[in-house]
Amino acid sequence: ARTFALIPAAGMGKRMGAGSNKQYLMLDGMPILARTVQTFQEADCIDAIYLVSPEQEIPFCRSEVVERYGFTKVRGIIPGGSERQHSVYNGLRAIDGIQADDVVLIHDGVRPFVSVRMLEDAVAAAREAGACVVAVPVKDTVKVVSEGIVAATPPRETLWLAQTPQGFRYSLIRAAHDEAAAEGFLGTDDASLMEWQGQPVRVVLGDYRNIKITTPEDMILAEAFLKERN
Ligand code: CTP
Ligand code: MG
Repeated sequence: ARTFALIPAAGMGKRMGAGSNKQYLMLDGMPILARTVQTFQEADCIDAIYLVSPEQEIPFCRSEVVERYGFTKVRGIIPGGSERQHSVYNGLRAIDGIQADDVVLIHDGVRPFVSVRMLEDAVAAAREAGACVVAVPVKDTVKVVSEGIVAATPPRETLWLAQTPQGFRYSLIRAAHDEAAAEGFLGTDDASLMEWQGQPVRVVLGDYRNIKITTPEDMILAEAFLKERN
């Protein structure tokens, strides 16, 4: 069975407020999205890569990311939708020749600190368990708040922060997305669609550096992580 990567990068970056899409912001001379794709290009466990982009940016994505950096594993750039879930669904339906027992790793285009180790662990877990999410234990105490008042303090040992990649046997994630689309269920990640289906999702240990670049201070963190690496 083969392993495909699906990388949604069709968001608008509203919380970044950069005026252009955050996936193309430069980190040490290289667009965030290109840094992300590079790790999938390098990993032997990944056979082919599909990107999801806003329709009008597909030519830019092809020339400034795929061709510019020679990402030979990229097989397609698919137009995104209004929500991340729609973008992923478009991607899942567009992967050429994918089979029921192939694995697909879904990874945010704006998480450039993913590592080959994480990809390997996620592929292995998805093959064995059918579904997995890369995650890290929370460091802070988390409060459930309702109308400005604390309603509960869930025991910290039970709380993890979901990252990506999230890996799935294709038949399972495709069925979950088909049903979510039919029922109008919207989740904030792909694992939540599997949970909604009653499907167990295995947790794979991520990394505190594997941040999603979301707000301006994340760019400062990202520069610091790069400096540490070099
Ligand atoms: N994404 C997508 N299609 C959408 C929305 C998001 O492909 N309709 C992608 C983003 O490009 C990003 C990933 O999903 O790689 C995670 O989303 P997020 O961090 O929320 O990015 P944006 O939606 O771009 O940012 P914001 O929510 O602040 O507008
Ligand atoms: Mg978003």
